[in-house]
Amino acid sequence: MIVPQPYPSPTSGATLLDRRLVFVTGKGGTGKSTMTAALGDLAASLGKRTLLVEVDARGNLTDFFEHDRVGYVPEEIRPNLYCMTMNTEDSLEEYLTIFLKMGRVSRLSILSRIFDFIANAAPGVKEILTIGKIAYEATLMQGGSPKWDLIIIDAAPTGRIVGQLDAPAAINELFEVGMVREQTDWMREILADPRITALAIVATPEEMPVTESIELYQTTRTLDVSLQAVFVNRVLPELFTTTEEETFENMRQPEPARLIQDSVQGEIDPVFEAARLAVKLRRSRVEHIRRLRTEIPVPTIFVPYLFVRDHGQRSTRLVAQAIREEMGL
Ligand SMILES: Nc1ncnc2c1ncn2[C@@H]1O[C@H](COP(=O)(O)OP(=O)(O)O)[C@@H](O)[C@H]1O
Ligand SMILES: [Mg+2]
Repeated sequence: MIVPQPYPSPTSGATLLDRRLVFVTGKGGTGKSTMTAALGDLAASLGKRTLLVEVDARGNLTDFFEHDRVGYVPEEIRPNLYCMTMNTEDSLEEYLTIFLKMGRVSRLSILSRIFDFIANAAPGVKEILTIGKIAYEATLMQGGSPKWDLIIIDAAPTGRIVGQLDAPAAINELFEVGMVREQTDWMREILADPRITALAIVATPEEMPVTESIELYQTTRTLDVSLQAVFVNRVLPELFTTTEEETFENMRQPEPARLIQDSVQGEIDPVFEAARLAVKLRRSRVEHIRRLRTEIPVPTIFVPYLFVRDHGQRSTRLVAQAIREEMGL
């Protein structure tokens, strides 16, 4: 007899790949970069021209493809898959060139004089330069069609994602008219369209990541961007059915335990303890997953715990395959 499926049956979440912009957030260490990389791998293999954006200059997104670091200019790291690292100074320079049509000399002198001051003193400036660049990439055209089918952003962690996504709205409020107002209006339109932009959270089935995800979901209801998927990462496999669990417990009874002990001539208690632990660990996760799914009414995508030694392109591909199956693609 197989026990009733204790995890609720998965819902697809496949529409995530139909968006133009997908921001991936999550508590640090839950697998934000892993999921960004795997989604990119999946989208590219489905024929989508995909750009991955590493927002954190010290991030390790390219490691998931065993590729060298990349700079501000998108670099093709796999067929159909490009990657860039955000740099707000480059973003400002690009902005001044494109929108203010400034020459290089004035641009650089302005930059060197004001960049550090503005970016570090005024709240939201770094964020707006990040979002501005991403929104700009989302609107680029190439040969009559959008340059990118999909842009996936390894965005700020849960603690800082609101400041990042809310920057256009916050700055917008400061200006009633003028260019800044127009620019931020335009960014907000992109972010607020759920057919274009989605936010996805990565959580592990543990207390803190789940609590942070629920809190973030509640906050996102006041933001332009809509939360459209939750990745539950590092889900433990179900190793035993309840019948097998019973068998293990029966084997622990004094008589069978003695027989086994005699025949294998080794310490068998730790083995039984390990079996018990595996069951207990998984049970405790079920409750966290239940809470997540009750409190956040968006599709949940389960990604199994990978028991692998190295986390390079092979494990990225495994995660991509797991997502693909979950999405029913
Ligand atoms: N499903 C998984 N199974 C096993 N290890 C995982 C899984 N997802 C992520 N990891 C590992 O957990 C660590 C943190 O993942 P990472 O994506 O870097 O997190 P974040 O970007 O959220 O800080 C990495 O070593 C990664 O390889
Ligand atoms: Mg990361």
